[in-house]
Amino acid sequence: MRDQAVGVLGAGQMGSGIAQLFAQYDQQVLLYDISAVQLEKALCSIEDELVKQVEKGKLEPGSPQKILSHIRVADLSTFADCQLVVEAVSENEALKTNLFHQMDEILTPDAILASNTSSISITRLASVTHRPQNVIGMHFMNPAPVMPLVEVIRGQLTSDATFHTVAGWVNKLGKSLAVSQDYPGFIVNRVLAPMLNEAIFALYEGVASAEDIDKSIQLGLHHPMGPLALADFIGLDTLLAICNVLYEGYKDPKYRPCPLLVRMVSAGQLGLKTGHGFYNYQAR
Ligand code: CAA
Repeated sequence: MRDQAVGVLGAGQMGSGIAQLFAQYDQQVLLYDISAVQLEKALCSIEDELVKQVEKGKLEPGSPQKILSHIRVADLSTFADCQLVVEAVSENEALKTNLFHQMDEILTPDAILASNTSSISITRLASVTHRPQNVIGMHFMNPAPVMPLVEVIRGQLTSDATFHTVAGWVNKLGKSLAVSQDYPGFIVNRVLAPMLNEAIFALYEGVASAEDIDKSIQLGLHHPMGPLALADFIGLDTLLAICNVLYEGYKDPKYRPCPLLVRMVSAGQLGLKTGHGFYNYQAR
C-alpha cells in the first residue's frame, strides 16, 4: 500500500465513491466531512457495495474489510501530508472556496488541490489559493467506482506538471481521461445538463409522462437510464446548480432551468437521496 494518503473532502454520493475507488486501488484515503452522520452513511454504503461485489464473486470474501481499512475518517488538520486532495463537497461555490482557502493553509506548497466540481470554474477556485498552478478539476462520474471516465479540467494557471501528475492518477485508477478547458459545464455537463433540463421541460409542458419520456430515451436512444431517472440519481439540487452555472456563465437563455426543477428543489424533492423526485423511491 502507498503510504502517503490521498485526501477526500466530502462524504456524499461522489466523495464516498471517490474514496472507495482510491481504496480499491490499495491507496490510503483520509475522508473528511463536516457531518458525522454523513461519514457513517458513506462508510456503510461503501461496505454495502463491496459486499455486493463479493456476493457476485467479483471480490474475495476478505476484501471489503481490507478496502475499508484503507479509508480513515479524519480532521482537516491531518491532511497536511497529503500530496493530492480531491474536494467533492456540494456544488456550492462559497463552500468550495472556503475549503480551498483552508486547505491552502494546511497543505505543503507542492501538494495538488483537485476539485470534483461538475461545472464551477477551476480558475476561480484556484484564485483563492497561493498555488493556482497546483489546482485542477478532476471530475468523476457517478457512480465513481463504475463509470470509466474522469474529465480533467485545466484552469487558466494549471501547470503541465500538475496535469501530468493527475493524468497519472487517472491511469492508476483504471479510468480514461478527457481534457477540458475551463468553461462553464466543461464537456460532460455542457451536453448533459441541457438534455436533462429539456426532458424536465417536456414533462412540465405536458408532452408526455415521466415514464414515457424515460422509456423513449432509454429504449429509443439506448441510454442506460432515462433522463428523469438520471436527474433523480444525480440529485435535483446538483442539476439545478449546474444549470445555473451554465445560465449565468454563458448569459444565454437556452440554459435557463425549468421552473418545475426549481420548484421541486425548493420543496426538498431532490431525487434518490431524499426518496422523492420524478419518481418515488421510498417504497423500494
Ligand atoms: N460501487 C461499486 N459498484 C457499483 C456501484 C458503486 N457505488 N454502483 C453500481 N455498481 C456496479 C454494480 O455492482 C454492477 O456491477 P456488475 O456489472 O459488475 O455486476 C454495475 O455497477 C451495474 O449496477 P447494477 O447492476 O446495480 O445496476 P445497473 O445495471 O442498472 O447499472 C448504473 C447502474 C451503473 C448506475 C447504470 O444505470 C448507468 O450507467 N447509469 C448511467 C449513469 C450515468 O450516466 N452517470 C453519469 C452521471 S453524470 C455525472 O456523474 C456527472 C455530473 O457532474 C452530474
